[in-house]
Amino acid sequence: MVILDPVEDDDLEQALYARMRWNAPLSVDHAELLMDRLDVRPGARVADLGCGWGELLLRVVARAGQATGTGVDTDAGALSRAKRLAKERHLDGQVQFAEADVSGWNGTADRVLCVGASHALGGTTSALDALASVVPAGGRMLFGDGYWETAPSAAAAEIFGEQVLPLAGMLEACRSAGWRVIHMSVACQREWDDFESTFRAGRQEWLLANADDPRAADVRDWLDARERQYIEVYRGVLGFAYLVLAH
Ligand SMILES: C[S@@+](CC[C@H](N)C(=O)[O-])C[C@H]1O[C@@H](n2cnc3c(N)ncnc32)[C@H](O)[C@@H]1O
Repeated sequence: MVILDPVEDDDLEQALYARMRWNAPLSVDHAELLMDRLDVRPGARVADLGCGWGELLLRVVARAGQATGTGVDTDAGALSRAKRLAKERHLDGQVQFAEADVSGWNGTADRVLCVGASHALGGTTSALDALASVVPAGGRMLFGDGYWETAPSAAAAEIFGEQVLPLAGMLEACRSAGWRVIHMSVACQREWDDFESTFRAGRQEWLLANADDPRAADVRDWLDARERQYIEVYRGVLGFAYLVLAH
């Protein structure tokens, strides 16, 4: 959910996500609940479309035992972090990562994760339709997506686009695509605030350690603008829902 132009240098790119467990407003407890409801059985094939650095996929596969996983993302830097994490946890034999656009991915899986990546499939409604053919009958999907908690200002609508629905609209879109909603929960304010804070924290720390760097002023401006945008434009306006869907 990067909104402002990021600074492109390598050390700043690495700092960007350094303090995030995953790239979604999600506590560890909440993730455990979602993994329970996803009900991944030993032997299951799990796909994570828009996996980022694959933290959730790795936890899902580790929890299930004999499951296998495929993570797909276009971000080469995130994928190299994913591969390193898989190796550290001795999961590199079970989980593979592919650098690819999910809109062209034509595999199937018993369990699918798609968290914060519906935009890669055309937005909420299109993603729910497209993903129905990725999960065979009897399968489940964890779908994490933004929704309007309250009516957006013009500034919020401009940032997040026309595809975002209110929560009731998201649930209607699930039904229209043939999904049954096994579980629904939304990110709480503390999960959101922690998500936004950890998103900035890597570069905040870089700035504190590199105050004399010629890029410091740009980084400070970027951080301040990002913080203002969250507080003034979309905090409490954009929600994030986690749905476990079956069909
Ligand atoms: C908000 S992040 C969520 C990452 C991950 N699901 C998580 O929860 O940590 C969205 C991810 O979608 C990926 N993405 C965006 N467009 C994509 C595309 N067309 N194909 C594959 N991945 C894409 C981004 O690179 C990013 O890693």
